[in-house]
Amino acid sequence: MTTDRFPFPEGPDARPPKEYEELLGLPGLPEVTLSNGRRARLVSRYAEVRAVLSDDRFSRAAFSGRPMFARTPESLALATSDPPVHTRRRRAVLHAFTARRARQQTPWLRELAEELLDDLEKGGRPVDLVDGFTVPLALRVITKTLGIPWEDRTRLRPLVDRMMSTSRFAPEEVAEAHAASGRYFTALVAARQGEIASGRPGDDLLTELLTAPEPERLSVEEIAVFGAGLLMAGYETTGNQLAMCALTVLQDPALAARLRADPDALVPAVEEMLRWNALGSTGGAPHVAMEDVRLGDTLVRAGEVVVPLIDAANRDPGVFTEPGRFDPARETNPHLAFGHGRHFCPGAHLARAEIHVGLGALLGRFPTLALAVPAGELVWRRGMFIRGLRELPVRW
Ligand code: HEM
Repeated sequence: MTTDRFPFPEGPDARPPKEYEELLGLPGLPEVTLSNGRRARLVSRYAEVRAVLSDDRFSRAAFSGRPMFARTPESLALATSDPPVHTRRRRAVLHAFTARRARQQTPWLRELAEELLDDLEKGGRPVDLVDGFTVPLALRVITKTLGIPWEDRTRLRPLVDRMMSTSRFAPEEVAEAHAASGRYFTALVAARQGEIASGRPGDDLLTELLTAPEPERLSVEEIAVFGAGLLMAGYETTGNQLAMCALTVLQDPALAARLRADPDALVPAVEEMLRWNALGSTGGAPHVAMEDVRLGDTLVRAGEVVVPLIDAANRDPGVFTEPGRFDPARETNPHLAFGHGRHFCPGAHLARAEIHVGLGALLGRFPTLALAVPAGELVWRRGMFIRGLRELPVRW
C-alpha cells in the first residue's frame, strides 16, 4: 500500500478508496496507523469482516475509551457498546423498526415524497436534490418517529453536521455540538415525561421508551442519548445514500428507463446501489481483541485493534462475481451495507422503504430528469463520517 495511514484519502465518486481493492489481494491483515495514532489491523475480506462483527471476543466498548475520531462513547447508545448493555438497549427499540412497521409507513412515505416533489417543482430550476429532496425526506421520517417538532430542524442540522464530522469541524466545535444536542434531547425527554404525567402521552418513540414496562425500561439518560443517536443514524445515512442512488440513475439513462418501465427492477437495483456506494468514510467500528483470535491466517493478539471494512468486503471477488462491475440485476447480493451481526442496522427496513419510495417517486415525476452539471464538477462531502454529495443539481 502507498500509505499506512488510515482512513485513506477519499475518492472522487461513490466508490471506496482504491486501496481497498489492493487490500483484498494482500495476505494477512495489514497494519495501519489510525488518526488518533493507534496501530490497527485492517480487515477487508468478507468472511473475516463478518467474523469481527459477530464474534464476542472483539469489543467496541474497549476501544471507545480512546475514540479514534471526534465522537464520544456517551453520544452513541448502541454503536459503541457491547453485550449485555448493548443487548438490553437494542431490545428496547427493535420493535419500532420491524419490516411490518416499515410497510405500514410506506403509504405515508409516498405522500411525503410527492409533497416534497411538488415543492421542488414549484421552485426555479436547476434544483439541488440533496437539500430539496433526499435529506428533507429522511429528516421528516426520523423527526416524526422521534416526535421532534419540524421547525427544530434548523437548530438540529448544524449540530448533526458537527457531530458527524471527522475533520471538517474543529474538535471544540464538535464537542460543543454534542453538548448542545445532549441538552436538546434532555429537554425533549423531560417534555415527554410532562405529557405522560398530565395524561396526554405523545405518539412517538421517546414516549414509547419512557412508558415501556419495567424492568426493560431504559433510563431517562439512555433515552435522551438514543434520541440524538437515532437522529444522526436515521437521516445522514439515508439522505446521502438516496442522493448517491439518484446520481446512479442520472448517469445511466438506460437504467432509469428500465426502472420506470418495470418498478420491480428497483429491488435488485437498490441492493446493488447499497453494495456499490461507499457510505462510511472511516470503515467500520474499531474493535479490540479481548483474547488471542485467529482471523483467516492471522493470529490477532489480545489488545490489538481491528477495523472491519464493509465497503472492501462488498467487493470481495470470492463472494461477488465481477465485484468491480455495477450490475443492477445482480441476483445474489449478500452485501454488508447494513452491517452484520448484533449491530446490524435496525433501520434497514425503513431505509430500504425510503430509498425505494424516494427513487420511484423521482423517476415517476420527472421523465426527463438530468444532471444540471457535468458529473466531474459535482462536489463531494469531505471530513464527514458519512460520505455523499454536497449538492446534486438537476433539471428536467
Ligand atoms: C441507507 C441507509 C442506512 C445505512 C446504509 C445504514 C447502515 C448501518 C450500518 C452499516 C450499521 C452498523 C454499523 C456498525 O457495525 O456499527 C448501522 C447501525 C445502525 N443504524 Fe443504520 N443505516 C441506514 C439507515 C438507518 C436508519 C434509517 C436508522 C434509524 C431509523 C438507522 C439506525 C441505526 C442504528 C441505531 C444503528 C446502531 C445499531 C447497533 O449498534 O446495534 N440506520 N446502520
